Amino acid sequence: MGHGVTTAPDATEALAILAREPVDLMLADVQMPGINGLELVRQAHEIKPDLPCIVVTGYGTPQNSVDALRAGAFWYLEKPFEQGHLDVVRALVDHAIELGRLKSENRLLHKQLRSKYGFENIVGNSAALRGALDIVAKVADTESTVLITGESGTGKELIARAIHFNSRRADQMLVTVNCGAIPEELLESELFGHVRGAFTNAVANRDGRFLAAHGGTIFLDEIGDMSPNLQVKLLRVLQDRTFEPVGSSKTIRTDVRVIAATNQNLEEAIREKRFREDLFFRLNVIPIEAPPLRERPDDVPLLAHHFLEHFNRERDGKIRGFSQDALDHLASYHWPGNVRELENLIERLVVTHGGDGEIKPADLPRQIHEAPTLSVASPRVPATGLSFRDVVDDFEADLIRQALEQTQWNKNRAAQLLGLNRTTLLEKIKKKGLDPIKH
Ligand SMILES: Nc1ncnc2c1ncn2[C@@H]1O[C@H](COP(=O)(O)OP(=O)(O)OP(=O)(O)O)[C@@H](O)[C@H]1O
Ligand SMILES: [Mg+2]
Repeated sequence: MGHGVTTAPDATEALAILAREPVDLMLADVQMPGINGLELVRQAHEIKPDLPCIVVTGYGTPQNSVDALRAGAFWYLEKPFEQGHLDVVRALVDHAIELGRLKSENRLLHKQLRSKYGFENIVGNSAALRGALDIVAKVADTESTVLITGESGTGKELIARAIHFNSRRADQMLVTVNCGAIPEELLESELFGHVRGAFTNAVANRDGRFLAAHGGTIFLDEIGDMSPNLQVKLLRVLQDRTFEPVGSSKTIRTDVRVIAATNQNLEEAIREKRFREDLFFRLNVIPIEAPPLRERPDDVPLLAHHFLEHFNRERDGKIRGFSQDALDHLASYHWPGNVRELENLIERLVVTHGGDGEIKPADLPRQIHEAPTLSVASPRVPATGLSFRDVVDDFEADLIRQALEQTQWNKNRAAQLLGLNRTTLLEKIKKKGLDPIKH
């Protein structure tokens, strides 16, 4: 068959070979001096967990074959080989080598995924983000259901992946279902599967995502868009991990970790009777809030540099960095599309900039570089409460006072500076009792 073959007289020698040479497949006898073939398979897997092994049994009893499979053999063959058996051996060898290759490839891909979705790749140092990530780190390796909320583009999916790939289920599947993108009629069958004939186009049985995720994690994205009908069925899965495929009465049990995410305010959806309260409580075991980017301006420069490095690499860009005033503009922009908007912007800058210089304010889109850079530490509402009116009044008065001082009390220019019309500014000055003598 063109394979290189190494032989060993006994198990000890075979293990020594495995430890020093690359081997794609092992064929082993059972009865051997010293360590027997089944024990050899076990020990071989300690050295090379993905090594496919075919065991050759002298006495083809059902028990022997079961023992071989239990020991971790890919398959067993009976001795002596008869004419015609060789074709079977060849086919088995092909299959076994293919399986071994897939297993090690799969292991490698999983390792890459793990490092891609590790915590290190979630960039940001703000207290708001760190707070969320602390919870993520604590709950990742538990079985608890997690509900991630946050505006669009805040990193909900990133967090869901970090949880899965830092859990004991990391080597199993992470199955993502976007509940908002699939029409209601299809979503049920997508999640739970269907049997042949369940509906017009159901020409064959089909497994759903809950079964595909068995042993792993299912990520239910945009859970707030799920129809009330399906919410009932989902509630049951969360309660006892069982469901029936569409058109079937056979109950299926599944072992999945559930992570859900939404950019909707579920409490509001509950008040409006769009979302079941009992389902909310089942999902909201561990709530994690992905904070909007405008509430953590400190993260903007870190993210901007992170994405710049990424896209420079990916797109052969040569941009050296950002000028300080460009960074100031970025940090004070309100980022309605959150991190995704920033990521897209940096990609666009890398692609269109062309040069190897710095990003300057003029390179930024108009709505960003024309926005005034006002740095305001993000205020926190104290647990004891506050007077909204007073706080806002003080804030306004402060801005107006600064504008007036900067313009030596030229009210036209101060109004311009603040983007107010002159009458509004005059009214406010009067109402707040600001005057140049007092200040
Ligand atoms: N803290 C972060 N560090 C690095 N990349 C981030 C961070 N937060 C978000 N991103 C990136 O921003 C993009 C949007 O994140 P993600 O898809 O997780 O957001 P989302 O909350 O699921 O958004 P949507 O509600 O629109 O689905 C992704 O490319 C993600 O990798
Ligand atoms: Mg998402």
